[in-house]
Amino acid sequence: AKIYIPRDAAAVALGADKVAKAMAEAIGARGLDATIVRNGSRGMHWLEPLIEVETADGRVAYGPVKAHDVSSLLDAALLDGGDHALCLGKTEEIPFLKQQTRLTFARCGIIDPLSLDDYQAHGGLAGLRNAIAMAPQDIVAQVTESGLRGRGGAGFPTGIKWKTVLDAAGDRKYIVCNADEGDSGTFADRMIMEGDPFVLIEGMAIAGIATGATKGFIYTRSEYPHAIAAMAEAIEIARKAGVLGTSVLGSGRAFDMEVREGAGAYVCGEETALLNSLEGKRGIVRAKPPLPAHKGLFDCPTVINNVISLASVPIIMDKGAAYYRDFGMGRSRGTIPIQIAGNVKHAGLYETAFGLALGEIIDHIGGGTASGRPVKAVQVGGPLGAYFPRALFDTPFDYEAFAARDGLIGHAGIVVFDDTVDMLHQARFAMEFCAVESCGKCTPCRIGSTRGVEVTDRIAAGIEPEKNRELLADLCNTMKFGSLCALGGFTPYPVMSAMTHFPDDFQPAPRVQA
Ligand code: NAI
Ligand code: SF4
Repeated sequence: AKIYIPRDAAAVALGADKVAKAMAEAIGARGLDATIVRNGSRGMHWLEPLIEVETADGRVAYGPVKAHDVSSLLDAALLDGGDHALCLGKTEEIPFLKQQTRLTFARCGIIDPLSLDDYQAHGGLAGLRNAIAMAPQDIVAQVTESGLRGRGGAGFPTGIKWKTVLDAAGDRKYIVCNADEGDSGTFADRMIMEGDPFVLIEGMAIAGIATGATKGFIYTRSEYPHAIAAMAEAIEIARKAGVLGTSVLGSGRAFDMEVREGAGAYVCGEETALLNSLEGKRGIVRAKPPLPAHKGLFDCPTVINNVISLASVPIIMDKGAAYYRDFGMGRSRGTIPIQIAGNVKHAGLYETAFGLALGEIIDHIGGGTASGRPVKAVQVGGPLGAYFPRALFDTPFDYEAFAARDGLIGHAGIVVFDDTVDMLHQARFAMEFCAVESCGKCTPCRIGSTRGVEVTDRIAAGIEPEKNRELLADLCNTMKFGSLCALGGFTPYPVMSAMTHFPDDFQPAPRVQA
């Protein structure tokens, strides 16, 4: 029998390595016929480490498993999917997983991440094989027709970006994968890199063939050691198998790639700061234009896409643009891997077609708060995303619907807060975060964020609160329209949404007279 124990960093943080070690020892001691496969995560973090056993009837899940549970699991005939207090039944029947539409994450948690055979047995490389038989213009057209938009946060149409690079003149072009996943409460990029690295390699190779780029870089965070190791190993395997190299799968079109590690500055997730960092320079934002698509890495035409954008391309090239485009709502086509985090019962990754109401995600899928207290606010789209109150829980998960309510879906991270959260404190945190992470290039962000911390402190201290609330709104306006990049430009979203939707928290605390 095969026993699946995740190698995903979240599972490892919760003891998966210890479980795997205990399981290997117990199997050896009992002389059982079983193999341990270290898979990616299924994305149900509250059940990690979640282990699975392959049975004639499908996979059976157990979790959360600790090392000391191993012998009682084996006593309960684990290898036959036997019953046990930790038994969750068939994995595919767990409602959180069953209700999802997994396109990009179709294989994550199912296959052995570093087995190219397993990858191909589950549909891997079919998209690349189709792409190498096509003209670059046709690949770009297919991606455009699919409606895929940048999953890093801005939602720019991927096909149009690729077309700009395809049409740009240049002897050398690059594909840069932005894996500098810095948003609070997000982990989709990491999960793909750890759980299905070949899908990213395949997506990048398709991007290379489509635009004429022969070299790719994955720029990721040093805080992601497991992802870096998995990607580096997968690239090596792909190279040996001819998926990368001078003759991608025998087509004669060359494409190769490598992983580069950032030093942890949030602003290096901004595409032009990322390019500077990749070139060995300080991570400072460049003014646009020129767009990276025209003048990017080493001044060459460059596609910069987020991990999830690139990892969504293979299924589009495999099943066709129409298949992908048929999911979703409005101009938000396909699926989105929503990452549910914070004070929530069922935290994890939930891939679904666009259009689900925010309240459905929080209350039903997420199961409400872990503390059991009422939800007060949810922040969508990372530290630069707006806070939404319950009154806006009918907002559908869609780029335009969120924008219409002064929010953003960003990289699709949701952080849940219960009624003990102080929203004035959260507004201060946003300003402080901006002050710490600012690259310093422009004044509204560099100076404005520090002034913003001072103004929120004055409101909290009850010093001329009305005047300071007006000043805060004015400052946000200047930062929003006067900043060069999204860091300074989007910090007003959490601040203004906190002040607008939770005005009570911005009332001065009563002064205590000595
Ligand atoms: P943007 O709107 O300036 O650009 C989006 C992308 O489209 C860029 O790659 C840009 O180069 C490209 N582009 C624009 N016009 C183009 C054209 N005519 N042809 C070809 N390409 C074109 O947004 P930006 O500043 O790149 O990203 C902001 C977003 O980043 C925010 O919405 C935020 O949600 C997100 N974000 C994500 C984080 C994460 O961890 N994933 C962290 C922080 C912010
Ligand atoms: Fe740098 Fe902030 Fe200006 Fe962005 S907004 S360029 S991070 S100073």
